[in-house]
Amino acid sequence: MASPPAPALAGRRVLLVGPALAAAVGDSLKGAATETAAIERLPQANAGTYDLVVVDADAWEATALAAAVQDLAANPRAAPVLLVGQRMPTTVVRNLLRLASSDVLEAPFTADQFANAVAALLAGAEPAPAPAPMAAPEGGSRCWAITGAVGGAGATTIAVEIATALAARSGKDKSVCLIDLNLADGAAPAYLGAQPAMRLNDFAGAAERIDAAVLQAFVTPVSKQLDLLASPRDPDAFDTVGREAVLRMLEVACECYEWVVLDMPRHRRAWTLEALSGSDEVLVISELTVPALIAARSLAEEIETALGGGTKPRIVLNRLASRMFGPAPSMTEAERALQRKADAGVSSDWEAAAAAANLGGPIAQHRPKSKIVKDIAQLVERLADTGVRRHASGAKRAA
Ligand SMILES: Nc1ncnc2c1ncn2[C@@H]1O[C@H](COP(=O)(O)OP(=O)(O)OP(=O)(O)O)[C@@H](O)[C@H]1O
Ligand SMILES: [Mg+2]
Repeated sequence: MASPPAPALAGRRVLLVGPALAAAVGDSLKGAATETAAIERLPQANAGTYDLVVVDADAWEATALAAAVQDLAANPRAAPVLLVGQRMPTTVVRNLLRLASSDVLEAPFTADQFANAVAALLAGAEPAPAPAPMAAPEGGSRCWAITGAVGGAGATTIAVEIATALAARSGKDKSVCLIDLNLADGAAPAYLGAQPAMRLNDFAGAAERIDAAVLQAFVTPVSKQLDLLASPRDPDAFDTVGREAVLRMLEVACECYEWVVLDMPRHRRAWTLEALSGSDEVLVISELTVPALIAARSLAEEIETALGGGTKPRIVLNRLASRMFGPAPSMTEAERALQRKADAGVSSDWEAAAAAANLGGPIAQHRPKSKIVKDIAQLVERLADTGVRRHASGAKRAA
């Protein structure tokens, strides 16, 4: 008859990061529910999902291992980690020390030594209950999508400032989520001086596993009120990240946050129209050049047609300046090129935009007196007052 599991292990969830670990230490973990994964899963190993993570230092290349442990250390809900192996690179161990709970066991070790290290980490983890799941926002969530008519029109800048203005307006903790959907090379993290942590590739074929806890492992907090969801640079991301994973992530974000702001890629992806049709507002950002205005008009028309008239995009003219510096079209001339009225304008302020981007953070933080901040505040007030809330379930708003 098999011996009963040690009480400390019964019902515990242990993630084994390394293909040889199950065979090597599986017996010492009897009673626990174990799961084997590759190093890419390490950064999302949350205390709410796993009681312990065992990492085989010998199974992974030192740089990849150090990066994964560093990413995990940036996750405030990281599970305790036990690093085992013969090779213990200093960078890995140094990053490991940044975790709230971790230990190192150098090979060769006995079963008793392993069991003691595991028991100590589990005992240490016990008093820390998994944080309560985020409450669905009262009264549902609102989602605004922002897209540039041409490259460099200012979509990311405006998305960052809108999200910041909404966070200040709401004042509630974790009320706003800015999602950078430029999955290959989104600039929002750099603009905010934040480290991107979203890894949708890990959920290929398993989009339904994305829930509020996974989302929290993906977010980078920017302020108490504002979270960022953005992916590390990956040139293949648009080909490899599944449509289902993107849409599920958006759905969960709408269940968790009062406000969701999307920085959309300019070119249409398999999930673009669904993301836009689930948004309460679609803002097309243009600059004041004739080609940009023509592109803005075409893009707005394309979106309107594709969404069956359900959501009428609004056109925002960015970098409005006095005419003294060159032959920019006036607002009237711009509206003639657009063949419609622009819905809002944002002043040009290169110094403020560059200073904020260079310092890492919103313009509202580094140059609060900039006209950009004032214009964005006006735009946000106007749109927030006129919009309709979506259901907390994230269900698409009826057209
Ligand atoms: N109102 C503004 N005044 C001055 N500079 C601005 C303004 N808005 C944006 N910029 C600057 O314009 C440049 C492009 O902005 P941004 O990256 O936001 O554009 P984008 O539309 O997101 O570009 P991409 O097509 O690469 O995604 C940046 O240097 C930014 O600082
Ligand atoms: Mg951008």
